[in-house]
Amino acid sequence: MKIGIMTSGGDCPGLNAVIRGAVLRGIKTYDHEFVGFLDGWRGVVDGECIGLPRHKVRGISKQGGTILGTSRTNPYDGPNGGPENIAATLARLGVDAVIAIGGEGTLAGARELTNAGLNIVGVPKTIDNDLDATDYSFGFDTAVQIATEAIDRLRTTGEAHHRCMIAEVMGRHVGWIALHAGMAAGAHAILIPEQKVSMEQVAAWVTEAYERGRAPLVVVAEGWVPEDEDKPWAERGVDAFGRPRLGGIGEHLAPELERMTGLETRATTLGHIQRGGVPSAYDRVLATRLGMASVDSVSDKRWGTMVALRGTEVVSVGFQEAVGNLKFVPQHRYDEAAVLFG
Ligand code: F6P
Repeated sequence: MKIGIMTSGGDCPGLNAVIRGAVLRGIKTYDHEFVGFLDGWRGVVDGECIGLPRHKVRGISKQGGTILGTSRTNPYDGPNGGPENIAATLARLGVDAVIAIGGEGTLAGARELTNAGLNIVGVPKTIDNDLDATDYSFGFDTAVQIATEAIDRLRTTGEAHHRCMIAEVMGRHVGWIALHAGMAAGAHAILIPEQKVSMEQVAAWVTEAYERGRAPLVVVAEGWVPEDEDKPWAERGVDAFGRPRLGGIGEHLAPELERMTGLETRATTLGHIQRGGVPSAYDRVLATRLGMASVDSVSDKRWGTMVALRGTEVVSVGFQEAVGNLKFVPQHRYDEAAVLFG
């Protein structure tokens, strides 16, 4: 078979390891041939691809980003978009199936195209770890590691100045990165979109930590909303391409906490640093296994399915189950972390 691979949506440490795992499995076990579409659905729609022989994937599993490039293009966009056009483009290139590596948006697009008759298998990708159908997604472990290291650094400068330090991490809809990095770094408060905590409570945790002689550390996910507000502070309009501008809640929180606690407070937004650089060993292994399994799915013609991690095993789930179900931080996981606050 000739298989096209594409990476779509926000990049994520481990994407190259998926590509390498898929290509090596496909060539060595099945004698498949591979091409890589450039910049997500854009390359599929425009039929722009490069050959992916074995030597192209040599040593790439430790590289951040994606050798194929990515974009948030919709497969229905433009005069060449939509299932009929894409089917014609794939036929022209001799591509029998597509492995789509992406998050919610990518997989939703893949589901529609599969329903229209295209041969697609999905691989879940998100540093946010918010896809319910997989226990963990690659990129998450790396993001948590980067955030934890940064928060550890904020702690020492905070302690030197007797300041309250706020670390804003990614997490638009869910707070997994904030929860794990916050627990790992010993934060005195963790604020996540799933939990509407009042500003009074946050100030109380900060004050409690300060009175115990600590430099208070607050970890906030970009999508957090205080109890008495209904709109994420981080939603600051859209960029020139119509994408929501996220990030910035830490900068809103700092003066508010300063006013309420009387403590000098500084905020740091970690932003895209959490998505850059080399993937952790765990993410490389998970991504490689998912890439290999995606080729098994293609070889078995399991169209409209996504590979996923359940416990320690890689399984195959239908797009129906994979799309539209976000994995929120459950209450008991937040309560467990909250024992450590203040
Ligand atoms: O979905 C992954 C993610 O990193 C989110 O955590 C974050 O809100 C968003 O992407 C940022 O998107 P962009 O890279 O388009 O600014």
